[in-house]
Amino acid sequence: MAQVTIQNVVKRYGNVQVMHGVDVDVGDGQFVVLVGPSGCGKSTLLRMIAGLEPISGGTISIGGRVVNDVAPKDRDIAMVFQSYALYPHKTVAENMGFALKIKGAPKSEIEQKVRKAASILDLEKYLDRYPKELSGGQRQRVAMGRAIVRDPQVFLFDEPLSNLDAKLRVAMRVEIKELHQRLKTTIVYVTHDQIEAMTMADKIVVMRDGRVEQIGAPLDLYDNPVNTFVAGFIGSPAMNFVHGRIEAGPGGAVFAADGGARLPLGDARVEPGRTVTYGIRPEHIAIGPGGVPARVSVLEPTGSETQVFAKVGTDSLDAVVKDRIGAQPGEEVSFVIDTRRVHLFDRETGRRL
Ligand SMILES: Nc1ncnc2c1ncn2[C@@H]1O[C@H](COP(=O)(O)OP(=O)(O)OP(=O)(O)O)[C@@H](O)[C@H]1O
Ligand SMILES: [Mg+2]
Repeated sequence: MAQVTIQNVVKRYGNVQVMHGVDVDVGDGQFVVLVGPSGCGKSTLLRMIAGLEPISGGTISIGGRVVNDVAPKDRDIAMVFQSYALYPHKTVAENMGFALKIKGAPKSEIEQKVRKAASILDLEKYLDRYPKELSGGQRQRVAMGRAIVRDPQVFLFDEPLSNLDAKLRVAMRVEIKELHQRLKTTIVYVTHDQIEAMTMADKIVVMRDGRVEQIGAPLDLYDNPVNTFVAGFIGSPAMNFVHGRIEAGPGGAVFAADGGARLPLGDARVEPGRTVTYGIRPEHIAIGPGGVPARVSVLEPTGSETQVFAKVGTDSLDAVVKDRIGAQPGEEVSFVIDTRRVHLFDRETGRRL
């Protein structure tokens, strides 16, 4: 086991800079998830940790040792890719033991390690099968088995679940989490799926355009996003953002939206006159008496809850409610906003106020 320390890491491809001084600390045994939109640099960062991609500046250390110039095979890491190509003409056992065989490990040791990994992954019944005789999820587990038998200091995963269907993805998510709880190996895991990030991570790193926007525990990012980017990226359905300004009112300050609505602020202390972006998550809006008039545009019932797309003035505001609601599109409902959960951001910079 080992910690991974990434300090001021820069990456250039020719004269295009794609990584602009990234700092990330991965504690020993921690499960850290890198998230961010496509092209933000997640895979590049992972490949730099693995040594598959040279860095253009900064330092990467694994277990206290700077590995900038250490070859991938000597970094004691194992990486699982999105396309986990197994050898089609080798059995599950042979696939899993291959890396050890290449290293010249004795046959008995290979067998023992493969058996142990197979029991962890519930693959014992399949050791003699070929990849084409397995389901997608079983193949995925074989790919993980290949990594486990090497007993590395660090596991690196690059979107290992994105080829699976939704149900299998949830099942594998739980399995990987269980695996981590059992092995307690340091993991750096890349995904663009924020639900995966929220449910698996000890710590999430939110990236954008080759920079780190925020690092924190999942619920910390959910409760205290530093800017509109993180606020909009973490949480599903996404936070509502409404542009407007703070106005003084008889009962305290209110938010006057550009689209005409007035939204409650609670005791948020921002000086009147300031232009801001008002953020509220759909799950922090209820339907009940005395709220903000909202005209329903679309209803999306999922069985367990209903997503209500609505307009307040000309601005869009979405709510998610547990109950089924009687209103029809075109009708007006009353949105009760939990003012303790209102976020205010600077309108120009997007920074949280
Ligand atoms: N070999 C390369 N040459 C030039 N630019 C590259 C190369 N590889 C990646 N890039 C650029 O580096 C940036 C980061 O790419 P990267 O693959 O790390 O993104 P990502 O966050 O993993 O995205 P995705 O979610 O789509 O996998 C992108 O702008 C990409 O175009
Ligand atoms: Mg990628």
